[in-house]
Amino acid sequence: MTTREPRLVLLISGRGSNMEAFIRAIEGETLQATIGAVISNEPDAAGLYIAEQAGIQTRVVPHREYSNREAFDAALATEVAAHDPDLVILAGFMRILTPVFVDRFAGKLLNIHPSLLPKYPGLHTHQRAIDAGDSEAGATVHYVTSQLDGGPPVMQVRLPIRSEDTAESLAARLLPLEHQLYPAAAALHLSGRLHLSNGLLELDGEPLPATGIDWRPL
Ligand code: GAR
Repeated sequence: MTTREPRLVLLISGRGSNMEAFIRAIEGETLQATIGAVISNEPDAAGLYIAEQAGIQTRVVPHREYSNREAFDAALATEVAAHDPDLVILAGFMRILTPVFVDRFAGKLLNIHPSLLPKYPGLHTHQRAIDAGDSEAGATVHYVTSQLDGGPPVMQVRLPIRSEDTAESLAARLLPLEHQLYPAAAALHLSGRLHLSNGLLELDGEPLPATGIDWRPL
């Protein structure tokens, strides 16, 4: 019996560096998967070009052409489902998703957020961590629910905030860690070792900490 490789669909809005990290992880065989499509809500997203160069199918579902969030989410869900994904990866996808989309892919929808959730859901995460005088920042990969940045965390990576840090310098140091963290979290999902029940996450049958696995860079 042959089993097909798990298929990913990645959603982007911009630069696409996390998406590119998935392409590299698959090329480097640290992630056993294929990418069925990269879909952007922004027609000009730079990441679309990177995906095309890698020979990956791309699609645009332009949110501005829909009269409300639900109509956009329904069209996006149809496009994603057409690629029959095992896992949907939000990789710098900057639209808030309603239950119309989220409920359809529940349990196989991951996001990366540049903060140590539950701290700083939403935007301007790096600046908010600096302004709060935090000693560390980080990123979280979590399952997506219809609560903004509120679904169960799978993994977090931490890094110290330096006294001279700006939002830009902190984001620049965090990004390469995101690029390692996200494919690692996706691989863990695809391994089948994670189980989501009643909103709580278990690894090999044991409950995970509320902030997910404390992941250290390789
Ligand atoms: C990443 O830092 C990601 O964590 C963040 O946007 C950036 C996208 O960069 N995501 C969010 O803020 C989601 N709320 P990329 O397009 O180069 O991957």
